[in-house]
Amino acid sequence: SNICPDAAEAASCPHAASRAHSLDAMPGPTNFPVFGSLVELLRKGGLRRQHEALIDYHKKFGKIFRMKLGSFESVHIGAPCLLEALYRKEGNYPQRLEIKPWKAYRDLRDEAYGLLILEGKEWQRVRSVFQQKLMKPTEVVKLDGKINEVLMDLVGRIGKINVNGRIEDLYFELNKWSFETICLVLYDKRFGLLQEEVNEEAMNFITAVKTMMSTFGMMMVTPVQLHKSLNTKTWQNHTVAWDRIFSTAKVYIDRKLKRNAVRAPDDLIGDILHHSSLSKKELYAAITELQIGGVETTANSMLWFIFNLSRNPGAQRKLLQEIRAVVPLDQDPCGEHLKSMPYLKACLKESMRLSPSVPFTSRTLDKDTVLGDYAIPKGTVLMINTHALGSNEEYFEDSKQFRPERWLRENSTINAFTHVPFGIGKRMCIGRRLAELQLQLAMCWLIRDFEIVATDNEPLDVIHSGLLVPKRELPVAFIRR
Ligand code: HEM
Repeated sequence: SNICPDAAEAASCPHAASRAHSLDAMPGPTNFPVFGSLVELLRKGGLRRQHEALIDYHKKFGKIFRMKLGSFESVHIGAPCLLEALYRKEGNYPQRLEIKPWKAYRDLRDEAYGLLILEGKEWQRVRSVFQQKLMKPTEVVKLDGKINEVLMDLVGRIGKINVNGRIEDLYFELNKWSFETICLVLYDKRFGLLQEEVNEEAMNFITAVKTMMSTFGMMMVTPVQLHKSLNTKTWQNHTVAWDRIFSTAKVYIDRKLKRNAVRAPDDLIGDILHHSSLSKKELYAAITELQIGGVETTANSMLWFIFNLSRNPGAQRKLLQEIRAVVPLDQDPCGEHLKSMPYLKACLKESMRLSPSVPFTSRTLDKDTVLGDYAIPKGTVLMINTHALGSNEEYFEDSKQFRPERWLRENSTINAFTHVPFGIGKRMCIGRRLAELQLQLAMCWLIRDFEIVATDNEPLDVIHSGLLVPKRELPVAFIRR
């Protein structure tokens, strides 16, 4: 059942290209002059509801459609066979949509690019340095002690600051947790973000990352060169934020390098810093972008994980049983325990299917490529919509239900290309293993100490702000067991 007719055809039929239709023949929302489908999209609820509009479009137009927003044209794919075909044809240096504002800052300050924005051979060189360690489960699992150190603070804090079980701005607390964790992993430095009194330096750092993230969206849809030459407020704030991020990160990377010089590195990032052939400038950029990539994504996935378990007490009970059976009462959950916790893994997978943090990723084709029935020209931007895949009844029966069991069935027919919350192929998320380890350990700690209960059963609206976020405070409470 995993054989997909489209993929088989695309891979094996030598005439596929000549029979394929051109992009013009591809369905899609009405393409008006100048604005394309922008007005229609705005009428459907605007950019903050684009994830819903895109699901509607996939329902209406099928597996693949094209859309133009202003002058920006993209092809949307939401079928496992097309993803598999794309994966099989992938070149050595897959490319995502350019983040021009970030590049503009680096060029201005003569800083390097990191993995999020590098391209071609340069990307591959930096990627391979980190890949060997960060994507290897046996290496990543060694970070469980550091992850636990921060988790102990998180559960302590949740126990302390809750009012009748409710936490004010849980999302911010989780962002501080993931920030603290990634900083400990990357710099060996505790910021104390989960303490009662957060020091100024840490707050400045976290605010700078927030400002940087909230100012670049605007410059993705309007020319960054214009912002730069007019020295707009957006550009100024963006630049100042990056200045602070880089200057802070450099201090900690330098300290870590210095420590490495006097004694052998004893952790994953230390090893990379020590043995890699990368220049200091390259390390600054690469490490900083790991940090940027790892904070809100992880916090957001944890938020949805908590929400899904609050609405599914049956699954939560089953998970608690698994945790109690595997982790002795007098021990902290660790990487070794996770090996015997298939239900926990299934719960996380199911949560990321139902509520993915990153709704889609992109690829810019570096060669003419045939996908399904279409010949798509080089330079086209493809959007890979994991959110649409995960909510498609064709691939997931009762797709609106949280059913971890669907991942555990012996003869599971779920095609791997229907579940891609971390992207696909050579350019997939490099923090995936680390994120999964953090999220699984975090849930062990939380569920062991607290029952997560739903405080209402109203639907929870979701908005798109780069990531998919709930529109209101999460209706959950943490009740100590
Ligand atoms: C790339 C999701 C955690 C660092 C990506 C991509 C996605 C993603 C969808 C694009 C992949 C593609 O285009 O195929 C997530 C989610 C996370 C998470 C949902 C948490 C649950 C992390 C963490 C780190 C990280 C913890 C840092 C350690 C990166 C980097 C890239 C990336 C550097 C760019 C990789 C490259 O282009 O070579 N992530 N991520 N992410 N992520 Fe993550």
